[in-house]
Amino acid sequence: MKVLVIGKGGREHALVWKIARSPRVERIWVAPGSPGIAGLAECLDIRVDTSLSQPEKLAHEIARLRDWALAEGIDLTVVGPEDCLAAGLADVFRAAGLRVFGPSAAAARLESDKAFAKDLMARIGVPTAAHRTFADSGAALAYLQQTGAPIVVKATGLAAGKGAIVAHTLAAAEQAVRQILDEKAFGAAGAQVVIEEFMTGEEASLFCVTDGECIATLVTAQDHKAAYDGDQGPNTGGMGAYAPAPVMTPELIRQAEETIVKPVLREMQRLGTPFQGVLYCGLMVNAAGPRVVEFNCRFGDPEAQVVLPLLATDFVDLALAACDGGLGQMAVRNASGAAACVVMASGGYPGTYETGKPIRGLDALNGRPQVVAFHAGTARRDGELVTAGGRVLGITAFDADIKAAVWQAYDAVMQVSFDGAHFRRDIAHRALARHGA
Ligand code: AMP
Ligand code: GLY
Repeated sequence: MKVLVIGKGGREHALVWKIARSPRVERIWVAPGSPGIAGLAECLDIRVDTSLSQPEKLAHEIARLRDWALAEGIDLTVVGPEDCLAAGLADVFRAAGLRVFGPSAAAARLESDKAFAKDLMARIGVPTAAHRTFADSGAALAYLQQTGAPIVVKATGLAAGKGAIVAHTLAAAEQAVRQILDEKAFGAAGAQVVIEEFMTGEEASLFCVTDGECIATLVTAQDHKAAYDGDQGPNTGGMGAYAPAPVMTPELIRQAEETIVKPVLREMQRLGTPFQGVLYCGLMVNAAGPRVVEFNCRFGDPEAQVVLPLLATDFVDLALAACDGGLGQMAVRNASGAAACVVMASGGYPGTYETGKPIRGLDALNGRPQVVAFHAGTARRDGELVTAGGRVLGITAFDADIKAAVWQAYDAVMQVSFDGAHFRRDIAHRALARHGA
């Protein structure tokens, strides 16, 4: 079987690492891939992550990739990032008869249009924060006078994880509304805002692979969005993750499947836009049970780095069942252990960051079967591996329990260095506290 993976980050490195373990797979290509992925697959010089502000260029590159996939006889395409799904990559591939793991543009609206997702949830009674949607800043500001703070203001479109502002004061909420609607801080992604109730509790991420009807639930995870220890500092794309998330007990997972995932999938079918691929439910858990913070239409990054190593079932079998239907007949097994991923980031990240710094010590991790260094932002310069992104590496370890996995991950991090590197030292702190460590 010939597999194509789309993307270049740590999530895609984890996908390729997992797909490469499938006995069904003969060859893997990745567009565009990374130096870490190059050891496992062939990297193609076609990028489909072009900013959505250039839709014609992106459509052209998607068509080029489709033509390449047809010519090569690709059996399965797995899409990592959300922007090309929202731009219709899966639609273009399916229309050409190619099998693709990932939702259509219409189904990807669960992530790419928060107003759509919130209205859908309200309509069918899925537990989530109460909300209102506004295109007019005057009306939004008047509404804020009624709600007060804390309150959450979100740009409705894709904003690379930066579009949600948790405002602890009325002034901060008003500023967020003005920045999004009047100053267009997120461009077209901010044509509307969703203003929603501030929820308290513990966050967790639930990943359900689906063929549109049946679901296979993978292990739960938690990521660490804040830059510094103790969840302090600015938000990032994710400074680390671990799985499973003990806050999501088997009973709460069942509850989330019944009250959230299945009703949403049924409604997407009813709308004529079934969701196929992986539905990532960002949840807030408190005594009232799990409520939806947001949906994503793809794996999390860095959550994929901890969820996929704990999947005992062949991921390719799962992806094929999602594409072709018949997921209901599959027994999905998750491994019993735990995994932790520590992100090593460039100096300055998440602000302006340095690049081009030589990375040392990765060779020392060879021969550790329970450790993988997933590359998030690296490049080869004159044969040398250097930093090339804000998040550089996701050093991941899996072991019998979370304490052992965390220990192994940090022991590995200590072997690796580059100028300016920083990382959180408290990955999995909530699970470790429950574990009594
Ligand atoms: P989002 O982009 O929607 O995932 O939001 C980013 C982060 O903002 C989430 O991971 C939460 O930490 C926080 N957040 C978003 N919505 C809410 C909410 N309604 N109540 C509390 N925190 C929220
Ligand atoms: N780690 C958060 C995300 O992938 O959206």
